[in-house]
Amino acid sequence: MTAESTRPRVVLGVGGGIAAYKVAELLRLLTESGHDVRVVPTRAALEFVGAPTWAALSGHPVATDVWADVHEVPHVRIGQGADLVLVAPATADLLARAAHGLADDLLTTTLLTARCPVVMAPAMHTEMWLHPATVANVATLRERGVEVLEPASGRLTGADTGPGRLPEPAGIFAAARRALAGRTAARDLAGRHVVVSAGGTREHLDPVRFLGNRSSGRQGWALASTAAARGARVTLVAANVALPEPSGVTVVPVVSAEELRGAVLAAAADADAVVMAAAVADFRPRDTQDTKIKKGAGEPDSVALVRTADVLAEVARAPRVRPGLVVVGFAAETGDAEGDALAHGRAKLATKGADLLVVNEVGGRGHPTGFEGAQNAAVVLGADGSRTDVPLGPKEALADTVWDLVRARWTDPKDR
Ligand code: CTP
Repeated sequence: MTAESTRPRVVLGVGGGIAAYKVAELLRLLTESGHDVRVVPTRAALEFVGAPTWAALSGHPVATDVWADVHEVPHVRIGQGADLVLVAPATADLLARAAHGLADDLLTTTLLTARCPVVMAPAMHTEMWLHPATVANVATLRERGVEVLEPASGRLTGADTGPGRLPEPAGIFAAARRALAGRTAARDLAGRHVVVSAGGTREHLDPVRFLGNRSSGRQGWALASTAAARGARVTLVAANVALPEPSGVTVVPVVSAEELRGAVLAAAADADAVVMAAAVADFRPRDTQDTKIKKGAGEPDSVALVRTADVLAEVARAPRVRPGLVVVGFAAETGDAEGDALAHGRAKLATKGADLLVVNEVGGRGHPTGFEGAQNAAVVLGADGSRTDVPLGPKEALADTVWDLVRARWTDPKDR
C-alpha cells in the first residue's frame, strides 16, 4: 500500500465472473469517497475486465500473481496493510479457495495475510450458489468472521433468474463502509422486523395514464439494504421502483396508494418499525376509466380528485400491536411565509403522530436534495423534541442514522 496515504486502505479483490464489470462502478464509489483502493483481480477476472481499467480507476498498478515486484513481498504486504478486503464478485471457485485456505495467487495470499475485516459479495448461477459445496464454504467463511453478503435475486446472465446476482454496487459500498467503521459484527437490528415503503405511487386515470411523482425509491432501497445488513428481517413495500431488488429483503410490489396502504398495514402487524420513505399520492382521480380517454366528443375538461388515506398517520395512530413499534415519516419541505422547512416539519410530525420525521429541505439554498440522486441531506426530528442533522452524503449514511435513532427508541426487549 502507499505509505503516504492516511485514507482508509481497501483491497478490492475481483473474481472471474461477468459481474466484474459492475465492480468498476464500485471502485469509483470507493475512490470518489476518499478510499485508497488497491485492486487485486484474479487471472480469470482479467478475461472480463482488463488490468488498464483497474489501474486507471484505482491509480495503482495491478497484479494478479505473486511474482510481480517480489522485492516488496506483495503477497504479504498487501493484506497486512489493508483496513478492509472487499471481494466482488466472489465466484464459487473463489469462495472455495478462500474457505480452504488455498494460496495460489495474489488475492488468495492476501486473504490469508489480512487481519482486517473481509467482505465478500458473491455472484454466480443459482445452482452453484445453492450447491451444498458452496453452502458449506460460505458457512465456513462466515464462522471465521468473513461477511459474506447475500446475493441478489433476479435476472442472471442468460435467460435464467434466481438468487446469485451480484448485490448492487451501492449496497456493497454500504457494507464496505460499515465494515470499515467496525460495525460488521454489530448486527444490532437482529431479531427485529422492519417495514420500509419506497418509491412513488401511481393513481390511474385510465389504462395508460396515471398521476405519479418523481420518487426513484433510492432512499427506501438504502434503508432496506442497511437494515438487512444490520441483521433485521426487512419487508420492502415498493411502489413502481426500477432498481434491482436489494439482497436479503422481502419485496412487496404495489402500484397505487391504496395497494401500498394494504401492504404496509399487513406487514406492520408484527413489525418493530415502519419507515415511510415512499412518496404516496395525497389524491387520486375520483373516477378511473376502463378504456383510454379519447380526444373529441365527450372529452373531460377536468379531473375530479379525492383524498387518499394517509398511511403514515394511520400506522402511527393505530393502537400499537407491538408496544415498541417505532414509526418514521419522510417529508420534503420548503420554507414559506408561514415558517421555515423545519417549522413545517415539526408541525407535520405532530399532526401525523410519528416518532421520527426525516425532513428534506427541497429546492432550498442552492442544492435540491432527495429524489433521484445517490446523495441526501436531512434533519431528523424526534417527537421527543430531538433534532439530528445529517450532512449531504450517500443515502446509506442517512439510512444508518435513521436506524440508529429507531433502535434507540425501542423499549421492548429483543425477544424474537
Ligand atoms: N404519506 C402517507 N400517505 C399519504 C401521504 C403521505 O403515508 N397519503 C407519508 C409519506 O410516506 C411520508 C409522509 O407521509 O412519510 C409525509 O408526506 P407528505 O406528502 O410530505 O405529507 P402530507 O401529509 O402529504 O403533507 P403536505 O400537505 O405537505 O403534502
